[in-house]
Amino acid sequence: MPISVHAETSTFHLYNDEMSYIFTVREGYPFHLYFGARVPDEQEFDYLLGEAWMPSSVGLSAACPHMSFEHLRCELPFSGAGDMRLPALEAVLATGSRVLNLTYREHTVVPGKPALSGLPATYVERDDEADTLVLTLADDVAGIAVSLLYTVFAGRAAIARSMQVRNTGAAPLVLERAMSGCFGLERDDLELIELAGSWARERSVVRAPLHPGIQGVYSLRGHSSHQFNPFIALAEPGCTEQAGEVYGFSLVYSGNHAMTVDVDTYHSTRVLAGISPEGFSWPLAPGETFQTPEVVAVYSAHGLGDMSRTFHGLYRERLARGAWRDRPRPILINNWEATYFDFNEEKLVEVARAAGDLGIELFVLDDGWFTNRDDDHGGLGDWEVNTVKLPSSLAGLARRINELGMEFGLWIEPEMVNPETRVWREHPEWVLHAPGQPLRPCRHQYVLDLSNPDVVEYLYDRLERVISSANIAYIKWDMNRSLADVYSQTTKPEDQGRVWHAFILGVYELYQRLTARFPHILFESCAGGGGRFDPGMLAYAPQAWTSDDTDAVERLKIQWGTSLVYPVSSMGSHVSAVPNHQVFRITPLKMRADVAYFGTFGYELDATKLTEEERAAVRAQVAFMKQHRALIQYGEQYRLKSPFAGRGNECAWMVVDEESREALVAYYRVLQEANVGRRSVRLAGLDPSAWYEVCELRADASSSRLYGRPASGAELMRIGLDLTDESAGQIVSGQGDFLSRLFKLVRVS
Ligand code: DGJ
Repeated sequence: MPISVHAETSTFHLYNDEMSYIFTVREGYPFHLYFGARVPDEQEFDYLLGEAWMPSSVGLSAACPHMSFEHLRCELPFSGAGDMRLPALEAVLATGSRVLNLTYREHTVVPGKPALSGLPATYVERDDEADTLVLTLADDVAGIAVSLLYTVFAGRAAIARSMQVRNTGAAPLVLERAMSGCFGLERDDLELIELAGSWARERSVVRAPLHPGIQGVYSLRGHSSHQFNPFIALAEPGCTEQAGEVYGFSLVYSGNHAMTVDVDTYHSTRVLAGISPEGFSWPLAPGETFQTPEVVAVYSAHGLGDMSRTFHGLYRERLARGAWRDRPRPILINNWEATYFDFNEEKLVEVARAAGDLGIELFVLDDGWFTNRDDDHGGLGDWEVNTVKLPSSLAGLARRINELGMEFGLWIEPEMVNPETRVWREHPEWVLHAPGQPLRPCRHQYVLDLSNPDVVEYLYDRLERVISSANIAYIKWDMNRSLADVYSQTTKPEDQGRVWHAFILGVYELYQRLTARFPHILFESCAGGGGRFDPGMLAYAPQAWTSDDTDAVERLKIQWGTSLVYPVSSMGSHVSAVPNHQVFRITPLKMRADVAYFGTFGYELDATKLTEEERAAVRAQVAFMKQHRALIQYGEQYRLKSPFAGRGNECAWMVVDEESREALVAYYRVLQEANVGRRSVRLAGLDPSAWYEVCELRADASSSRLYGRPASGAELMRIGLDLTDESAGQIVSGQGDFLSRLFKLVRVS
């Protein structure tokens, strides 16, 4: 993945086989030229600069009045220079000025990818996996030096960008805006795709044409949020799963974010991604450096599916880390929906025994195991085991679970605190709370000030003790409220603008220390379901609880939307009881499992309450998942039929192994319709010249061959997999509503 630097023309070309990213330095400023499909390397591409003089625009300088930042695509737009759009960098200097003038100083190309201090980021294991360009700009009057980092990966159509800002002057300054990356596209004929939602209906795909002005997504909740995932894509109209150009932007960050698309009135589009400037103002003393999170930009000429698979590969292989990164995940049972807070040790052991008997591998004890926690009004913060509920304590309970042949996992919610806890009594100053203002509750709980290193130290100490007290194999790290009252009682008034970001740095620090201390433990992140399902979390916890909504129908949309960015191996998905606890729908056990297979599989129900017939079905599901989880969690995913299309009645997706030898295809139909004619779905990712045996897998683990002969990859991808059933004409029998069908393809030649 060369980074070509043409000294004569000051042209920088970052490319690999899949894409090119080109910019040039003119008049001392770096200007963007091109981002898209790979083009041959050339000395210069200056005609792409768009230098034409436009009336009434502010000139670059007296020496260069015919060029204006307003009509060029600066790699680092900064405040006060006539750009007239939202800048990527804004600082208030000791003089009160916000006028900056950062010009090119030097560049270096380093093999590999440097780590970002204190922040999660993509990484390489060998230096030949990526090259990084470090472009340094400086403003000697303001006393600021900026390094722009660009990493281009071998074999991945992805660029990671971030920025370091250094105070090189003698006076302090304050950063008001420090975005991770700015991308200028010389087109506005695109559609904005975002993942929007709320609790229990996270990450719906929303798509709308761009228009002049600012559009985009953000979070001001202190976590990446259920509402707007830190991701946007810009797709050409008509771009489908399989074809068309698309640019995806994903921010590796878990706090307040902003991803804006600024379309000017000259058909040019600027994407800015980074920490939300709202509430952010970061004092930088002389000699100090600020590091932004990174944004990953992916380009595809082959549709949304290809964009997603680039994100999946990068995030699965080079963002997630640790012992569990490459390991198929254990099949778990979680007691939350089985018992909520109403359990004791014997009840838990009963559920675990029933689950272990079905082949389930891991028992997870959710909320409610600690003192003063019989409902959600109290207990958070002290992290002491409730030995009335659990007389053998965690160590004894874990031992009993282990004796059943299962691993033991535990729920925690480190950032939160309830009143009337010991920690609050002893350290009221550790709670986020503005002087004299009321405290605002959410789920009866408040937020500890993780911008304070003493709080991080306390939590590390308490949780380290809890986790090392028992044989724990898995941790579910929850976070059940958004931040308000954001004032750090232990921080100087003039530094309060640091608190939102410093809080997240504290969360990362705690994650880093606990995952390093317990490298064998599988961590799963969670935030009231999927309220912090973001790339930052994936760097520490390779899987996340996708949503509190476990209804199979709702999950089609949630898992489809989530898969735009996040790999199957990251999506916690469980079979729960019916009527479903969130939407009260009754769906067949088969459909619930057929949906949950496409994630990190488990159960969220009381296994002691299953009927004999259900037990047999669950046993078969667990056996199926054990046999196929490597393929499902580490194969390539192709989305085939969108639940967001039309009336959303159908959905289909598939996974294929790297060599296109084996595939699993799932088709779901929410409601039965009558007399609909033939149905089929075109498959993807197969070898067109290979032949595949196609079998439909039934709930009782039996299977039947389709077509009575092998089918070619070409036939399955170009004509499609035949799904016609009784509803093609007058229905005489059949499944009815909530149909799911699972097909296995095995290459025979
Ligand atoms: C929210 C989570 O998403 C649930 O799975 C459960 O862990 C509860 N919190 C417990 O309070």
